[in-house]
Amino acid sequence: AITKVRARQILDSRGIPTVEVDLYTNKGMFRASAPSGAPSGMYGAIELRDGDKATYLGNGVSKAVKNINEKISEAIVGMDPILQNQIDQAMIDLDKTEKKGELGANAILAVSIAACRAGAAEKEVPLYKHIADLCGGVNHALPVPAFTLISGGKHAGNNLAIREIMILPVGARTFEEAMQMGSETYHHLKAAVEEKYGPRGCIVAEDGGLAPDITSFREGLDLVMEAIGRTGYTDKLKIAIDVAATDFCIGSKYDLDFKSPKKSGQNFKSGEEMVEIYKELCRDYPIVSIEDPFDKEDWEQVKHFSGLGICQVVGDDLLMSNPKRIERAIHENACDAFLLKVNQLGTVTEAIEVVKMAKDAKWGVVVSQRSGETDDSFLADISVGLATGQIKAGAPCRGERLAKYNQLIRIEEEIGDQASYVGESWRHS
Ligand code: PGA
Ligand code: ZN
Repeated sequence: AITKVRARQILDSRGIPTVEVDLYTNKGMFRASAPSGAPSGMYGAIELRDGDKATYLGNGVSKAVKNINEKISEAIVGMDPILQNQIDQAMIDLDKTEKKGELGANAILAVSIAACRAGAAEKEVPLYKHIADLCGGVNHALPVPAFTLISGGKHAGNNLAIREIMILPVGARTFEEAMQMGSETYHHLKAAVEEKYGPRGCIVAEDGGLAPDITSFREGLDLVMEAIGRTGYTDKLKIAIDVAATDFCIGSKYDLDFKSPKKSGQNFKSGEEMVEIYKELCRDYPIVSIEDPFDKEDWEQVKHFSGLGICQVVGDDLLMSNPKRIERAIHENACDAFLLKVNQLGTVTEAIEVVKMAKDAKWGVVVSQRSGETDDSFLADISVGLATGQIKAGAPCRGERLAKYNQLIRIEEEIGDQASYVGESWRHS
């Protein structure tokens, strides 16, 4: 049984406070922490922040910590950690609000993950195995990683409008080999960037991607192709992009120069023009997945683009992991994959439910990091346990990003001969 729950405020990878919790059972102490993103909408669960400008610029989480140490602790001490569902439900009932704003989704999530670790220990099975059991015993599988190579958008200081250019090592035979391909390509890219933009081009962004001073999609993609060419893995690596178009949608137009100090006003594109741009990019580069190609409220355009069937279309800001938005998107065929940001839901149980819903609809599932991360590696275990097929945890660089990828290396080793890396079947693992 859970004997004690103790939370504290720690700092995330951006140097902003977040919640960490230690949950005790007779098997030991189990720790977890909550990540944090740069939200582009209101459909996700609410991160509780103190708002007191005099402390951490208003970003403190002492109220969330207090909620764990007092209210949540009282509600769950004595419960059996194997019963994830009941623990999560107890917190949802205690919070009483739809978006978990009362206790804070950051508080609830950290406890939910720590309880999941305690549940695995209680059963004496690895965490991914416990998660697979909670989901009804699907076959576990190692996901294809989407490594961020170039960063832009809100996450970087350059003028590139799109948020991420990633590579997917679909042709690797094992996760470990995928990791090697990712790392080698990253370092070849770094060399190529340095040759062209000088050492300043190698400054990294929040998620570890390089952020050279490029402005166009093609300039970024050409650099990535150059790096891929240098590795010799040409047919084994595919490209994915996160456009995060909501960030530069002004009215009904997309401002591709939105970060440029000398906004020309010349680079506004309509939704139709964006469709043409994507079509050409998919023709000229091995792009297999596009995330948030349009504004989060532009259902018509995303439905139209998705219907063309050119590549996987992932809903991130469009859906914000919100079950109602996902249900609508499934019903309207608005996309065919979603980004699972566990902290937008708030509990492990709810994450499992939406993954089931997406899989029933034959959707792809991308387990995702947030721009503010910690060294918690839970995402690795959930991606294996739910056999999501895809994980996006940033560049193969920076500790908080590697916490997830390195855990996947360990899991693959532990599963041994029975381990299967999804490879070419990443879309429908
Ligand atoms: P966020 O970014 O964590 O800042 O929301 C992640 C993403 O856009 O995929
Ligand atoms: Zn995104």
